[in-house]
Amino acid sequence: MKAYRAALLRFADDHSPLYEADGLLVVGPDATGRRVVRAAGSHAALIDRYAGVAVEDLRGHLIAPGFVDLHIHYPQTDVIGAPAAGLLPWLENYTFPHEARFTDETHAREVAEFFLDELLRNGVTTALTFATSHPSSVNAMFSAAQARGMRFITGKVLQDRHSPDGVRDDTEQSLVDTEALIQRWHGVDRLGYAITPRFAPTSTPEQLRGAGELAARYRDVWIQSHVAENRDEVRWAAELFPTARSYLGVYHDFGLLRERAIYAHCIYLDAADRALMQQTGAAAAVSPTSNLFLGSGFFDYAAADAAGMRYGLASDVGGGTSFSPFRTMLAAYYVGREGQTKPGLSLTPGQLWWQHTAGAAQALGLDGVVGNLQPGCEADFIVLDPQSTPLLARKTTQARTLDELLFALIVLGDDRAVHRTVVAAG
Ligand code: GUN
Ligand code: ZN
Repeated sequence: MKAYRAALLRFADDHSPLYEADGLLVVGPDATGRRVVRAAGSHAALIDRYAGVAVEDLRGHLIAPGFVDLHIHYPQTDVIGAPAAGLLPWLENYTFPHEARFTDETHAREVAEFFLDELLRNGVTTALTFATSHPSSVNAMFSAAQARGMRFITGKVLQDRHSPDGVRDDTEQSLVDTEALIQRWHGVDRLGYAITPRFAPTSTPEQLRGAGELAARYRDVWIQSHVAENRDEVRWAAELFPTARSYLGVYHDFGLLRERAIYAHCIYLDAADRALMQQTGAAAAVSPTSNLFLGSGFFDYAAADAAGMRYGLASDVGGGTSFSPFRTMLAAYYVGREGQTKPGLSLTPGQLWWQHTAGAAQALGLDGVVGNLQPGCEADFIVLDPQSTPLLARKTTQARTLDELLFALIVLGDDRAVHRTVVAAG
């Protein structure tokens, strides 16, 4: 076992932040050898019980759960900041040409390593990640995440139509490849597979039907896709699937809405769609920097809460502009303020932080596994330095409440505040 002494942030079951100014985090193997949190709380309350355990003194720092990114594309690492009139031209002019390069496994491996370096440097310890349509891009990504001991989920993109040569796959082969990848990787170490139809417009009904069949056969495998991101895209989906009740309804019709299904964006949903998300247990990956950058629109927090649907935060790199959860939380705050039916919301820093940790984990069906530091959670955490820049130091020193401290980090923090990222400690 090993212990760390620092300020400590966790989340209660009711989503509220729990904070110890002088905390102790004790990590070590559980009965099955998994590296987990054995105890978390105030130093004074715990230190006698763990008197024999080596304690690393990190006072002056804040230990918090590793962030969970609910939707990101590793092959779009080099697409960040590509200007376009909107989603569809952005895909055609930048994204597809970049993704076509991932047929080369050496390239995929190099980008995968850079991508994981960048996630960890920014404090992200778990991510639900798109690969490309090339199976080798999945092997490259899983191998890289496995070597780092991460809890990590990815999958081969399915896109058998309306896609250029180089990324378009074959209907039959794509499903054979998906099943082979599930069998090779899902449940190996901390890795999980996600069935990954890119979005309804780039899959034939046959491919979506096959994906739904796999999703029914492999119940604990994840599903990831995009929905209702952009007005042109919504129109296109309606033309292609004229009998579906809505764009989200297309996925429902093919058996692709269930627990462990994560849909990026969910901007142009109606009340029946939101009720369907709630009933099926599917969740939204809210991607505010992407939605602002591509001019897509705004996630409706109040409507999502009224429907009781699950959601969490995501970077959506490379539509998104930053790997940093601090940038994503700040963008989510702006969207809450200005992107809603008036009056806007004032999301609290605790809510924003929860949506990028324990809330994102809950959306994945991984609550109590990652995204929190309660006893039994896997020991993935970050050590934050509230003094990492002169302005952040000045601001956090003056913080009188937990909300003020967390807000200072959300507004002023970035990768420089992430002093250390620890994966599977103990
Ligand atoms: N819809 C289909 N593919 C994509 C993608 O790569 N990024 C985003 N933001 N939306 C999509
Ligand atoms: Zn995306």
